[in-house]
Amino acid sequence: MIGRLYGVGVGPGDPELITLKAYEVLRIVDVVCAPKARADRPSRALEVVRPILHDTGRIQEVTELIYPMIRDLSVLEAFWERNSESIVSKLREGKDVAFITMGDPMLYSTFIYTYRKVREKLPEAGIEVIPGVTSLTACAAASKLPIAEDDETVALIPSTAEMEKVKGLAKHADTLIFMKGVKNLWELSKALIECGFGESSIVVMVKGYGTAQENVKFGSLGELHRWNSEDTYLSTLMVKRCTV
Ligand SMILES: C[S@@+](CC[C@H](N)C(=O)[O-])C[C@H]1O[C@@H](n2cnc3c(N)ncnc32)[C@H](O)[C@@H]1O
Repeated sequence: MIGRLYGVGVGPGDPELITLKAYEVLRIVDVVCAPKARADRPSRALEVVRPILHDTGRIQEVTELIYPMIRDLSVLEAFWERNSESIVSKLREGKDVAFITMGDPMLYSTFIYTYRKVREKLPEAGIEVIPGVTSLTACAAASKLPIAEDDETVALIPSTAEMEKVKGLAKHADTLIFMKGVKNLWELSKALIECGFGESSIVVMVKGYGTAQENVKFGSLGELHRWNSEDTYLSTLMVKRCTV
């Protein structure tokens, strides 16, 4: 009998934001796979679920899988391949596996590449995704800045996007949400102003939501270029359109 793979979203960092369904899955699986960027760093997702694992009264197998933060696709492919192979071998042993991921598994998550490979290698395995509270909904909650209301539109933009693409989206969206860190704030503010975002548009940067370093910073687009963009990987930036 082949095991089942669960992609489990563990939310933005506060263990109380883990869903009941994720909690139940974590209690029943045989193996927990936790992604992390480097061998010498802890897995953030594992830190979040550790209290639950201790609570189960069972000793579950925990495997940490390395997903380096690099952009070289051929190197990344090799890691995805190795990690999915290790999951497939557990599933073949009949073990149920939870792949835990920060926020939601289907939003900019390493689970996406992994489950595609697992599906290729072992099409008969059942795969289930347990959604999680995303960092963007957590950031809206922390700042009380709505993501969208009435007929507003929203664009979700990774910091790796080309400025031309950002401008294209900015022309049509009322709320812009930047993830995976922020950079070039001077160039970004100038581009957004050119696209019709007024200088008084509200900006909020939420850093490390749910962690001891949590910080919520408010301001206006006109002053964004003066903000510090260093060490912002764990930050989400929201910009809300105002025409003046
Ligand atoms: C690889 S993406 C993962 C997104 C995740 N799957 C989700 O659903 O939120 C990582 C980005 O999520 C955002 N993020 C993750 N955790 C955060 C937190 N605790 N506070 C603020 N932003 C966070 C940051 O923009 C970070 O660069």
